[in-house]
Amino acid sequence: MHRLVAFGAAVTGLYVIQKVVEFRKAVKAVNDHPGLRTLLNTLGPIENFFPRLWGVTPGSYHMFTRKHRDFEIYGWDVITYVAAFWGSHTNFYVADADALNEITTYRARFTKPLEQYELLKYFGGNIVASEAEEWKRYRKISAPAFSERNNALVWDETKLIIQDLFNNVWGDQKEITVDHAVDVTLPLALFVIGVAGFGRRVMWSDDEKVPPGHTMNFKDALHIVAQGVFLKLVLPEWLIKLGPTKRLRDVRDSFIDIQSYLLEMIQERRHSEAKEERYDLFSALLDANELEVEEGEKKLLDSELIGNLFIFLIAGHETTAHTLCFLFALLALYPDVQEELHQHIKSICPDGELAGYEQMSSLTYCLAALNETLRLCPPVHSIPKSVAEDTTITITNAQGERTTLIMPKGSTISMHIPGLHYNPRYWKNPYDFNPKRFLVSDWPRDAFLPFSAGPRACLGRRFSETESVVAMAMIVLRYRITIKEEKRFAGETFEQRKTRVLQSQPGLTMTPLRVPLTFTRRY
Ligand code: HEM
Ligand SMILES: *[C@@H]1O[C@H](CO)[C@@H](O)[C@H](O)[C@H]1NC(C)=O
Repeated sequence: MHRLVAFGAAVTGLYVIQKVVEFRKAVKAVNDHPGLRTLLNTLGPIENFFPRLWGVTPGSYHMFTRKHRDFEIYGWDVITYVAAFWGSHTNFYVADADALNEITTYRARFTKPLEQYELLKYFGGNIVASEAEEWKRYRKISAPAFSERNNALVWDETKLIIQDLFNNVWGDQKEITVDHAVDVTLPLALFVIGVAGFGRRVMWSDDEKVPPGHTMNFKDALHIVAQGVFLKLVLPEWLIKLGPTKRLRDVRDSFIDIQSYLLEMIQERRHSEAKEERYDLFSALLDANELEVEEGEKKLLDSELIGNLFIFLIAGHETTAHTLCFLFALLALYPDVQEELHQHIKSICPDGELAGYEQMSSLTYCLAALNETLRLCPPVHSIPKSVAEDTTITITNAQGERTTLIMPKGSTISMHIPGLHYNPRYWKNPYDFNPKRFLVSDWPRDAFLPFSAGPRACLGRRFSETESVVAMAMIVLRYRITIKEEKRFAGETFEQRKTRVLQSQPGLTMTPLRVPLTFTRRY
């Protein structure tokens, strides 16, 4: 017995010594460049479950809450993060625009750490969770779907959806109060994806019957799938199958249902005689799969088509909805900016009505307000990369000192988006909401990466911008947005209010905690 304990202790001792040696080697491998030294590597989705504990983990959503502060502490805009246990020992947080430009440009040297995307493959092989040849195949079929015609469809359909909200939900009320703005923006973004993504129009006022062979209608299935994605990704499959609670059963059934809806839609499209021109992503994906594939290339399987459609839903729904929510919050916090925005939209739409998609390029202030929101509240705060070969990167700091960083093969990079977006080297008064900073010709383009950049940049940027501009323009034209007055917050200062309203929690993307708003009719 004693021998067993002694043996166990010896093995543990050896293991610890090995880890200490590895840790010290890792520190040496990066030339002891300043940064975090911790017990655990919690990069990736698991980070959400850890508190910030000095010397143990950087903690959950520290990137969002700390913004540029860690870089100021360590004196460089690229800092190291050396960890003793789990994953790679050498990691880098990057908030330097030039370094990020290099990282996003060279796709082969800085690859995607696919192990961090494993969960997203649940839905089938797809463009977000793939690399190299597989990714190229998906990108080639997917990219043409995000066409100008699709953007025009997004524009027209978002208009209809907002009109439906005005006519059939908000009606004649002089004042509408919502306890959390996402109660408006999540359904809005879902309906836009429903029609411009999947080719099925769904509206606030719809109440479709459940068709035979399904347990819920398309709208509910889409809604529950979108809400349940996070659960589906983090809970084990057997638990969801078992369905111990109503919520889990609904999530389980909605995924089965959406899958069969999509398969039915694919079959229907294949067998329909008359080919109408349709520009939703679903139709475009199907068409590209017939037309863009050259001799000898493999077509996408139905499961891959569905995998990619699912990914559009996951990549596009929450991100856009949360951005719009933060936008409304910021406009409510900064009434002067809102007034200026209102004047701008009125000058473009004097009769109070939006025209067609061609109008988008005139609504520059709307795009600036959207960009400024994405700068302050980037929904994707960390974009991971792997170092595929030993490499170096040269950086300068605020004092003008230069250093050449060694990045050993196998290290992980975390593109630190809040660190970049609040970096005072690129943005004056980075904490201010000031859309006008985007209305000059020389704003720092490389220091703005909400959609990533380079060959792996977001495909849905224009989709999302179009939807956001229409929603913003129509709502700001008709309503004045303010923070809902609540007795318990009566004594707070502007800064306290701003902190309260912009408070977020980690989820699939940065999730606003509670944004209570009042919309007051202007006319
Ligand atoms: C505010 C809204 C959005 C933000 C902030 C955003 C952000 C991003 C980011 C940061 C990436 C790179 C992810 C990575 O490297 O792992 C990305 C990729 C992607 N996004 Fe978006 N996105 C938005 C909206 C959308 C929408 C609406 C769609 C589709 C309807 C979409 C589709 C995609 C796709 C397909 C990719 C993968 C591109 C590739 O790897 O080739 N996104 N997005
Ligand atoms: C907003 O940002 C995008 C990049 O995401 C850029 O192409 C566009 O010019 C910007 N527009 C304005 C008005 O700031």
